[in-house]
Amino acid sequence: MKVLMINGSPREKGCTFTALNIIAKKLNEQGIETNIINVGSKNIAGFGAEGSEENNFVKSIAQTIKDYDGFVFGSPVYYASPNGTLISFLDKLFMMCKDFVQKPACCIVSCRRGGASSSIDVLNKYPQFYSMPLISSNYWNMIHGNTPEEVLKDEEGVQTMELLGENLAWILKCIEAGKEKGINSPKIPEKIKTNYIK
Ligand SMILES: Cc1cc2nc3c(=O)[nH]c(=O)nc-3n(C[C@H](O)[C@H](O)[C@H](O)COP(=O)(O)O)c2cc1C
Repeated sequence: MKVLMINGSPREKGCTFTALNIIAKKLNEQGIETNIINVGSKNIAGFGAEGSEENNFVKSIAQTIKDYDGFVFGSPVYYASPNGTLISFLDKLFMMCKDFVQKPACCIVSCRRGGASSSIDVLNKYPQFYSMPLISSNYWNMIHGNTPEEVLKDEEGVQTMELLGENLAWILKCIEAGKEKGINSPKIPEKIKTNYIK
C-alpha cells in the first residue's frame, strides 16, 4: 500500500515536512510506503490560469493518484489559511482527477500560534467532495513551531501526528481486509447538481 503526502510549504524541509515525516514513520512501521512531494515551492497560479509549466506539474501528479491508497495534505498556516499555492494546486488537481474517490485522507497544518483550525477546515473540504474517509487523531490535526526543532518539541503535536499515522494505517488495512471479505465501497451515484433551483 502507498500513501501520497503533499507538502504545501515553500520550505521543503520545514515544519510541515517535519510533521509529515512523523506520520510517514508510523506508516512505514506498518509496512506502508510513503512518498512526500513538495508543492509549496512551485509557482502555481489559481484556477483558470491554464497552459503553464506549472499546470503540467499538476497534470503529472493527477496521473499518479490512481497508484495511491491514501493521502496526507499538509500546509503551513498563512494568515489563518493554508498556503495559497497549495489551494491553487488542490483546486486544479481535484477538478481534473477523480481517482481520489473513497480513499482515506487526512489534512494537517503547522503554525507558530493561531489559525490552525480554520486552515484545517479549508483543507478538509477537498477529501469531503470525493467520499474520502477523513482520518483524525486525539486532537485537531495541528502542530506548532516556527522551525523543525521547535516542532519536535511540541510534544502534544508530535503525539497527534503519530496517532494520525497509526489511525491512517489502521483504516487502510481495514479497507483492504474488507475487500478480501467482499465488503466493497458503495457505488457513487451520478451527482445531482441543483444549484438550489428546481
Ligand atoms: C506569510 C506567512 C503568514 C503566516 N501566518 C501565520 C498565522 O496566521 N498563524 C500562525 O500561527 N503562524 C503563521 N505563520 C507562521 C507559519 O505558519 C509557521 O512558521 C509554520 O510552522 C511554517 O511551516 P513551514 O516550515 O512548513 O513553512 C505565517 C508565516 C508566513 C510566512
